[in-house]
Amino acid sequence: MAVSIRWFGHSAYSFDIDGHKLLIDPFVSGNPVAKAQAEDLDAEVILLTHAHGDHVGDSVEIAKRCGALVVCNFEMGDWYMAHGVENVFQGNPGGTFSKGWMSAKWTVAHHSSSFPDGTYGGQPNGFVIRGGGATIYHAGDTSLFGDMKLIGDEGLDLALLPIGDCFTMGIDDSIRAIGFLNPKLVAPMHYNTFPPIEQDAAAWAARVESETSASAIVLDPDGEFSL
Ligand code: NI
Ligand code: MN
Repeated sequence: MAVSIRWFGHSAYSFDIDGHKLLIDPFVSGNPVAKAQAEDLDAEVILLTHAHGDHVGDSVEIAKRCGALVVCNFEMGDWYMAHGVENVFQGNPGGTFSKGWMSAKWTVAHHSSSFPDGTYGGQPNGFVIRGGGATIYHAGDTSLFGDMKLIGDEGLDLALLPIGDCFTMGIDDSIRAIGFLNPKLVAPMHYNTFPPIEQDAAAWAARVESETSASAIVLDPDGEFSL
């Protein structure tokens, strides 16, 4: 496999897949824990899980500067096009976006989705991403849900799960989610960015190791690992 994964804090990731750059929910310049600078980021494809400001982040600026393709739900796509982003691919849960080096299948997520300007942002979602020989689930912002078992049937090398509680599942439910998803590796996200979502990631990792069959990967913001 040839995927390297960089975490900016919150739910923001960059994947390098066989030399191609993918960004997910690139919330960097307003992100109090991010060390990266948005103007240094580039991408061919930007995946967005929903329209909240802590996920849309710097996506408009990056997409315009790089000519990146923005892959998002239908309503969000209309908003991006209305805000001058020329390359947009719109989908919804069950659909798959495919390009030679990667694909991304929309999954459901249980959450809400509106842009910071109040525009309706469609249904929130997660993605099952395939590329570089790996299958990775980015859950977006969501509660635990039983159909994670169906996502687990996809055969996951890595699951990226929110653990912050308050706006998403917390630690207890993330452990149950790992049981449904059965990934080889799991990394926490959407925690310690703001006071309402503070969590002890080391305690979470200890529970992953003792209560699930997955291995936990806890990064510091701007940390990287490879599959
Ligand atoms: Ni959200
Ligand atoms: Mn969020």
